[in-house]
Amino acid sequence: MKLLAPSILSADFKNLEQQIRAVEIGGADIIHCDIMDGQFVPNITFGPIIVKAANEITSLPIDVHLMIKTPEQRIKDFVNAGANYITVHYEEVVHLDRVLNQIKESGLKAGVVLNPATPVDLLEPILPLLDIVLIMSVNPGFGGQSFLNYTLKKIEWLNKYRTENKLTYQIEIDGGINKDTIVSASDAGCDIFVAGSAIFKNENITAATTELKNLII
Ligand code: DX5
Ligand code: ZN
Repeated sequence: MKLLAPSILSADFKNLEQQIRAVEIGGADIIHCDIMDGQFVPNITFGPIIVKAANEITSLPIDVHLMIKTPEQRIKDFVNAGANYITVHYEEVVHLDRVLNQIKESGLKAGVVLNPATPVDLLEPILPLLDIVLIMSVNPGFGGQSFLNYTLKKIEWLNKYRTENKLTYQIEIDGGINKDTIVSASDAGCDIFVAGSAIFKNENITAATTELKNLII
């Protein structure tokens, strides 16, 4: 089953409850939360307080994408805020096996994120440990950027590797997903599709959600 994960990064935070309700009605499966610290990426967003609020608003799973320095020091805060999935960047974590186990021991799904320029086969030793592999299809830091087509090769590799090795990780894509790019990501083997501006910058958030959802069914 293919899942749509609206990113509240592009939402109107004055009306967060109404905005989350709109994507729920449109058929969203997951709420994606982009945590940025102005260090790992050149932008600051929000932290556990907003994740907790989102979790209180919705019963959908909360997917926390950590774009921060030393994410291992913050796992507990996001577990307590109600996250269901936590993903950490390969480029930032030195002791990846340890952090993944820290997330999994808290009862959450754990994933690794790769920047567009990071090769995917680096993950080979830890793929059996992973619940999610998140492939960035833009350079992380901002919503509204253009989709980088070459990242689809990594999705294809992950999809093939999963079949050949009978693994069960889900493949997630994040950045520049809209009605023109979502089908190629789906065809490449993606399971979870993050979309920010294509949903929340649309006049009709519910209709935009449904339109994307229908393209991956
Ligand atoms: C980018 C974030 C994305 C962002 C996607 O650093 O990780 O989740 O919200 O935004 P769009 O869909 O506008 O590219
Ligand atoms: Zn994200």
